[in-house]
Amino acid sequence: MTYEPFEYRGGELCCESVPLARIASEVGTPVYVYSRSELERAYRAFDAALEGIPHRVCYSVKANSTLGVLNVLVGLGAGADIVSIGELVRWTRAGGDPRKVVFSGVGKTEREMLSALDAGIDLFNVESAEELDVLDRVARGAGKQARIALRVNPDVDPQTHPYISTGLKQNKFGVSMAESRGLLRHAKGLRGVTPVGLDFHIGSQLTKTSPFSDAIARLVALVHELASDGIALEHVDIGGGLGIDYGKGDGAPPSPAEYGAAVRDALAPLTATGVTLYTEPGRVIVGRAGALVTQVLYRKRNEAKHFTIVDAAMNDLLRPTLYSAYHPIKPVVRPERAAIATDVVGPICETGDFFARDRELPEMAAGELLWIGAAGAYGSAMASNYNTRLRSPEVLVSGDRYTVIRDRETYDQLLANERVG
Ligand code: LLP
Repeated sequence: MTYEPFEYRGGELCCESVPLARIASEVGTPVYVYSRSELERAYRAFDAALEGIPHRVCYSVKANSTLGVLNVLVGLGAGADIVSIGELVRWTRAGGDPRKVVFSGVGKTEREMLSALDAGIDLFNVESAEELDVLDRVARGAGKQARIALRVNPDVDPQTHPYISTGLKQNKFGVSMAESRGLLRHAKGLRGVTPVGLDFHIGSQLTKTSPFSDAIARLVALVHELASDGIALEHVDIGGGLGIDYGKGDGAPPSPAEYGAAVRDALAPLTATGVTLYTEPGRVIVGRAGALVTQVLYRKRNEAKHFTIVDAAMNDLLRPTLYSAYHPIKPVVRPERAAIATDVVGPICETGDFFARDRELPEMAAGELLWIGAAGAYGSAMASNYNTRLRSPEVLVSGDRYTVIRDRETYDQLLANERVG
């Protein structure tokens, strides 16, 4: 049994020991709620799964970049994978060490490169020949040398949603295996960059280990080829991507331990070379630690459907709308009531504004609370102000206490940068 941070106690759904109803009445809804102990457990489980391999865990900040969440991971010794300077600002404000940061992304600007060099990040994951030359020029101009890993596109099918599949040759990420050997040789001759590693990230919410194993096998072959070119690498980075169980009942993804075993096997040919493994997990660290708590506003039934209209919307949690993603939904009290099939929908003026369709749930009364689970990853981080809705507050629960780590936005904050002209 995996640890469950959200459990019914005396008929009331709690996060650790705090009833969600208490948080909702004190902070209001919609509200994101995170469990500190689940964040800690998930990080430690992932780290422990790689035991025996010299490794570094660079948490992928994009999955959840709220300062209070980042600070928990900083405390556990995590490094960070960033894709913008904004994420570096968040990471350092949360107390994170810039020297543990890898900078990924297909579209880094020169300004971002310079800021990252000034901050003293560990390295850049370079994604194209043109980016390599720009980084070389920027670094030389600043009198620095940028450590780089080349992001290769191993052309393996991660068998996940097309929008979050990144390691196929039709995707925009990385450089082809064929091009990478020549590009690293070229990099070796540049004065502003030092090639130190190879990197890939093949996709997100992977539910099998075989795509990781296949991609690592291709990376291992390339490491050997480069060694014969006189390019000895310090590390290989296998990105993030390990999936979590969203409770849909269609089979659980591999556990971190199973993932770790597959990675260990696939990397075995490199053990003697002493390379360090870098990883960039996001979802598997924060996904199950977070939930969105929302209040039922209205119910209605037409000839075709029953609707449960709640105060959260696609601007709070976009995943169902964007990827048809499944999230578990439960009533905060009395789960044992008879169920009906209902669409759980938000107030936004789009048919795509839904959290679930034809879901079996107790018929809720207006004013009751619903829990939308496994929302810690790519929930608040992808929130927007669409329909001029304020961003929701976030709270971090620790045992029988909680802290508001983000206040509900105000209209003054929302409109601060606007004027009538
Ligand atoms: N490294 C790189 C270079 C990435 O692009 C990503 C995610 C990760 C690491 C972390 O992947 P994870 O371990 O979280 O799977 N918004 C989508 C997911 C987008 C993932 C983008 N890149 C969703 O809600 O499912």
